[in-house]
Amino acid sequence: MAQLSALMNVMVQAALKAGRRLKRDFGEVENLQVSVKGPADFVSTADKKAESTLYNELVKARPKWGFLMEESGEIVGEDKQHRWIIDPLDGTTNFLHGIPHFAISIAAESQGNLQAALVYNPITEELFTAERGKGAFLNDRRLRVAGRRNLSTSVIGTGIPHIGRPEHGKFLLELAHLMGETAGIRRMGAASLDLAYIAAGRLDGFWERGLQPWDMAAGMLLITESGGYISDIDGQNQIFEKGDIVAGNELIQSKLVTALKKARANK
Ligand code: IPD
Ligand code: CA
Ligand code: CA
Repeated sequence: MAQLSALMNVMVQAALKAGRRLKRDFGEVENLQVSVKGPADFVSTADKKAESTLYNELVKARPKWGFLMEESGEIVGEDKQHRWIIDPLDGTTNFLHGIPHFAISIAAESQGNLQAALVYNPITEELFTAERGKGAFLNDRRLRVAGRRNLSTSVIGTGIPHIGRPEHGKFLLELAHLMGETAGIRRMGAASLDLAYIAAGRLDGFWERGLQPWDMAAGMLLITESGGYISDIDGQNQIFEKGDIVAGNELIQSKLVTALKKARANK
């Protein structure tokens, strides 16, 4: 890997350590899958263990920074200007079902701006990283969003709301419309990787509602550092506040916002 900044080095070491444990636990899930109860409790323990590994590593390196983590919530730091935004296991449902598509997501925020980002799938060993102003990378390779200009040739990722989640109706309207406008829709099950895949030019666009900052923070910087665009579902800047996101290259992103608006109006 190219020369890492001190900050990125800390993030990578923490992610590799937590990733090794997650990978071991994922192997165990495959065994537990056949039991009647299934691996649910085991997975929630694996999730918490990964979070505490990340916390311990990062707090050692930056003792005063705050944290926003899925399992432990907000931990206010002495240094109010810096915090980590972490999802220790994004794609829990995949993990629980033995599907090897999940990731650790870590973002570093400085004075409210995303400064550095990492998304790591410990099974494929794909490590997506970005730092503000320095570009985005997959392992050693510099990333650039795909160049497609039309929805008709674009593959678009999304998240489908499930039991316990609201807005099934709204999603169905959007899906019904976009099915007829795009080359394909994908629901892969880990929002951080969906966004990283846009940075890598694998997906042309993405939309989802009901996300949390830890699902999106790292992926957002990966996208902007690979030349992509992001907004909330109304084309505005309130992604964390509203919990929804639309992403892609400049053209596809704005065409998606327009298509989603049209979809909701057509009900
Ligand atoms: C979930 C994944 C999924 C998205 C959900 C998230 P989790 O995170 O990112 O792709 O559709 O909305 O909650 O629960 O696996 O960390
Ligand atoms: Ca998540
Ligand atoms: Ca999670």
